[in-house]
Amino acid sequence: MNKRDYILIAVAAVILGFLWAAPKESTHRVPFDETHERFYTLVKAEGKKVAEKFCEECHNADGVQFPKDHPPKSRCLLCHKLEER
Ligand code: HEC
Ligand code: HEC
Repeated sequence: MNKRDYILIAVAAVILGFLWAAPKESTHRVPFDETHERFYTLVKAEGKKVAEKFCEECHNADGVQFPKDHPPKSRCLLCHKLEER
C-alpha cells in the first residue's frame, strides 16, 4: 500500500467514527399515550401532513406550551418522530 491508500483508510475511519458516534436523535418523540394514540392511526392512514394539522389544537400558547427556544414548527412530525412500535 502506498501513502495514498493509508490516507484513504484514515479518512474512511474518521467518517465511520462520526457515523458511529452520532448522537441518538434527541428530539422528543410523540408519546404513545391516550392523547396521541389516534395520531398513530391517522399517520398510517392519511400521512403526516394530515395528522400534524391537529397538533396545534393543544400545542399552542394557551395550551401545552412549547419550550421557549422551540424551532419553527410548521411540520411537527418531521422532527418529532412517532414512537417505534
Ligand atoms: C388533545 C391534545 C393534544 C394533541 C392534539 C396533541 N398533543 Fe402532544 N401533548 C399533549 C399533552 C397534554 C402533552 C404533555 C403530556 C404528555 O406527554 O402526554 C403532550 C406532549 C407532547 C410531546 C412531548 C413528549 C415528551 O416526551 O415530553 C410531543 C413531542 C408532542 N406532544 C407532540 C405532538 C404532536 C406532533 C402532535 C400532533 C401529531 C400532538 N402532540 C398533538 C396534548 C396534545
Ligand atoms: C425543526 C424541528 C421541529 C419541528 C418542526 C417541531 N419541533 Fe417540537 N421540538 C423540537 C426540538 C429540537 C425540541 C427541543 C428538544 C425536545 O425537548 O424534544 C422540541 C420540543 C418540543 C416539545 C417539548 C418536549 C419536551 O418534553 O420538553 C413539544 C411539546 C413540541 N416540541 C411539540 C411540537 C409540535 C406540536 C410541533 C408542530 C406544531 C413541533 N414540535 C414542531 C423540534 C421541532
